[in-house]
Amino acid sequence: MKEYHPPLGCRDALRLDFNENTLACSPKVREALGRISTGDLTRYPERAPVEALMATHLGLAAEQVALTNGVDEAIHVLFETFLDEGDELLLPVPTYTMYEVYSSATDARVVPVQAADDLQFPFERLLKTITPRTKIIAIANPNSPSGSVATREQLIEIARRAPHAVLLVDEAYFHFYGETVVDLIGATPNLIVARTFSKAYGLAGLRLGLLAGPVELMRWIKRVLSPYSVNSLALACLPPALEDEGYLDWYVGEVLAARTEFEAALDKAGLRRWPSRANFVLVEIGARHQEFTRLMSAAGVLVRDRSSDPGCEGRVRITIGTREQMRKAATALNEALAALRARNEAQ
Ligand SMILES: Cc1ncc(COP(=O)(O)O)c(C=O)c1O
Repeated sequence: MKEYHPPLGCRDALRLDFNENTLACSPKVREALGRISTGDLTRYPERAPVEALMATHLGLAAEQVALTNGVDEAIHVLFETFLDEGDELLLPVPTYTMYEVYSSATDARVVPVQAADDLQFPFERLLKTITPRTKIIAIANPNSPSGSVATREQLIEIARRAPHAVLLVDEAYFHFYGETVVDLIGATPNLIVARTFSKAYGLAGLRLGLLAGPVELMRWIKRVLSPYSVNSLALACLPPALEDEGYLDWYVGEVLAARTEFEAALDKAGLRRWPSRANFVLVEIGARHQEFTRLMSAAGVLVRDRSSDPGCEGRVRITIGTREQMRKAATALNEALAALRARNEAQ
């Protein structure tokens, strides 16, 4: 297995490198944390009642939902459950790094499906890559780092053309996009959807995610999943997080407004960018991407160099936070670009 080292940043900087909520979770979640009792800490967590609540929220039965320690655990467990020697994992790339990391812990083979330069979802190419050995097709929708999406019709067609495989649709960024295939669960026997509380809900530190799918597939997954991987604090915070729709709507609205403003700033700076349906945007910086990232960091704004992703040389992903934060980011970006231009001229 390749080692995965998440970049550790100065926690006081404006962190636009992980696509988290950049501000806060709902105040109702903070109140729930204040009510945590000694018993909550001494006892093993009980996930079932909260899982049932989550299922109701999604319009599903409790047996169709499994809470996980973030979507990362969900991916890990899903791959452990279904991927065996000789199996193929289809991955449209570039995409979320952890799919490849967790698949390398199995004996399956990754089959990457490269997106074209526009980084749109490589639908036709993916269909052609399906074989009888395809066991899982993992699609982040919206995708990271591109921000592009697969349409509902495309996802339905993929599920139909690979009935022998599991189609994972990772809706980590669902709230910023607004479209889902959760309603197809059950009726589509090979569809599994992942969701997280790390992004719009602002609970990345609690590690809370979920898988939702047909009962038969979920039974296999629940055999592999640790019964206690979602801790008591996360379970206590889930109900108020779900309940406070006002906070969620406000945060998503703020991010979408900030994205429009920030995209205009990128256009004004003459930078190529890819249209995004999520809370981040991929930007072409070019050969001096490392220097750019360092200059931004020195100005207190952390962004993520995605150059090592397939087809992403010279591209940097910037998380979208609030308008105020993104105005600060735009100023830092313009100053970094000016510094790079000055260095170019001096050489
Ligand atoms: C597509 C995608 N899925 C899953 C995750 C991880 O989610 P979690 O924090 O719930 O493990 C990320 C995080 O960046 C992501 O981009």
